[in-house]
Amino acid sequence: MHEIIHAVPSEWAASAHVDINTYQDMYRRSVEDPDGFWREQAARLDWIKPFTKVKNTSFAPGNIDIRWFEDGTLNVAANCLDRHLATRGDKVAILWEGDDPSESRSITYRELHAEVCRFANVLKALGVSKGDRVTIYLPMIPEAAMAMLACARIGAIHSIVFGGFSPDSLAGRIGDCRSTLVITADEGLRGGKKVPLKHNTDSALTKTIGDEKVLVIRRTGGEVAMHAGRDFWYHEMAATVSDACPPEEMSAEDPLFILYTSGSTGRPKGVLHTTGGYLLHAAMTHELVFDLKENDIFWCTADVGWVTGHSYIVYGPLANGATSLMFEGVPNYPTNARFWQVIDKHKVTIFYTAPTAIRALMQAGDGPVKSTSRASLRLLGSVGEPINPEAWEWYYRVVGDNRCPIVDTWWQTETGGHLITPMPGATPLKPGSASWPFFGVQPAIVDAEGQIMEGACEGNLVILDAWPGMMRTVYGDHERFEQTYFSAYKNMYFTGDGCRRDADGYYWITGRVDDVINVSGHRMGTAEVESALVAHSGVSEAAVVGYPHDIKGQGIYAYVTLMAGVAPSDALRKELAGWVRKEIGPIATPDLIQFAPGLPKTRSGKIMRRILRKIAEDEFGALGDISTLADPAVVEDLIANRQNRK
Ligand code: PRX
Repeated sequence: MHEIIHAVPSEWAASAHVDINTYQDMYRRSVEDPDGFWREQAARLDWIKPFTKVKNTSFAPGNIDIRWFEDGTLNVAANCLDRHLATRGDKVAILWEGDDPSESRSITYRELHAEVCRFANVLKALGVSKGDRVTIYLPMIPEAAMAMLACARIGAIHSIVFGGFSPDSLAGRIGDCRSTLVITADEGLRGGKKVPLKHNTDSALTKTIGDEKVLVIRRTGGEVAMHAGRDFWYHEMAATVSDACPPEEMSAEDPLFILYTSGSTGRPKGVLHTTGGYLLHAAMTHELVFDLKENDIFWCTADVGWVTGHSYIVYGPLANGATSLMFEGVPNYPTNARFWQVIDKHKVTIFYTAPTAIRALMQAGDGPVKSTSRASLRLLGSVGEPINPEAWEWYYRVVGDNRCPIVDTWWQTETGGHLITPMPGATPLKPGSASWPFFGVQPAIVDAEGQIMEGACEGNLVILDAWPGMMRTVYGDHERFEQTYFSAYKNMYFTGDGCRRDADGYYWITGRVDDVINVSGHRMGTAEVESALVAHSGVSEAAVVGYPHDIKGQGIYAYVTLMAGVAPSDALRKELAGWVRKEIGPIATPDLIQFAPGLPKTRSGKIMRRILRKIAEDEFGALGDISTLADPAVVEDLIANRQNRK
């Protein structure tokens, strides 16, 4: 295959924080002397009590234990706010762009500090204290960042639930971590449509223990029911508290947040991140990978409901004293030029988005992009799923006018921040490759037997040693943490991703190798969609797989066996799609549903997903060995009635 390489432009090599020599020297040091390396890097943060120990980690079976800087103390909100006040008090911290293009707000570090203190005092008045869990179910409004930082200020652990999730999903997440408070808004606003967040919260709370309080932010002014004694308006309480609140002294290993994410089995897992290591990793990657300079306007288009929003809208940028743009809307409202118009309006210099958005906007043609200047841009980023070289080239050529390097950052909710990524002053770029490991990250590729392979090869991606930003446990279930990430290959963290390494040492992520699919950059466990489907009274069995989708990357393909006597119909197909949407949320809606009288199973009753994936991909010519099936005839019916015909 002919690979295009975009060399590092000489002006980048000269001016970036990290050039190729610095990268190589720092990388070597980071793996040969992790204690020395991270001791120095940790000076990026303000510590209340300095740490003496740096790294104390174990990937040993039965003893997975990750601690960094464990005897140091600090406060995340103080690092993101207070320490900037002397030098950057009047600098804009959050630049908010509303769903409606006529709405925007600038909040300086001084203003944000005061509002976070006020918010923290409201939390205290509601009885929240250190170690308590707070669920945040908010739209993309500045109060979302304030709520996060207010929790961090008083040592409460936040758990953000993406506003697109259903009441059931919200209830499950509130219950799993036993949140005592839910912070929501009357309604959200996305693409001109209202999202009934308070109403969803009310429904969710009919399914929880029922002792939670609710703090409601007024966003649209829409009518909502307020339950006396349980529900409180933020603006009313904020008017009664002071804007001074001393930051709580937290141990580096005290939890900062929980974020639920889908895996290959069971219910979503509460990924737990702690204070010191996470903040260091978020801040350091944000500065070095995006080559942050004092006057940059940084825009990450993610939602704070995902890890990308945690690390690169809130914690990384604010720890670095940067200006972070927060966008309430969607890429195609009011028109397909919205992203580019926002870039011009706020003079965005660094733009970070997902391949799914790039592909969708690419389909709208070059016109909407070319109707704008984008002259302020200097760097582009990609995250969330593999970016196909065509989309990469379009992003580079049309959006960046052949001028802006692209950092294709590979990482996960579990990793806290970037693990494999180019650095714009150091790494020659190959479109579609996340390139080289970040400092302190030791990736390896293993074969099916778990043997580490050398040189150019393809297999499963593992990480050999701990890094500061990694998750510490699955909240309330350390055994599941070990089982999920450390049982496939001994003494290694298994990422769940397949990967190829080329002769130049570039890593190319090929996608998930487990039963997780990546739909528009959002992670979805096939098991979750299956359990939603079988909860419908007409469904006896369901199997869900991913298939290639032009815009979403992967689409959701569901095979459904109906109960005896239930007739298949298009109306039922629609009903089932709507059912899953209601059970989990719109992002889980199946794209294609095939009614299957039988599913391909081994004689021991195991569904052979390999076959279902091939048929969903319309690649049924290559089904491989089907002789072990209990009833090979079901395959013919599945092929004849397949829903994805190229
Ligand atoms: O499969 C990889 C894919 O997204 C997964 C992690 O999803 P999540 O925890 O939701 O975090 C998404 C944002 C960090 C990974 O296991 N992924 C993420 N970034 C990339 C990627 N695949 C290829 N290239 C990337 N740059």
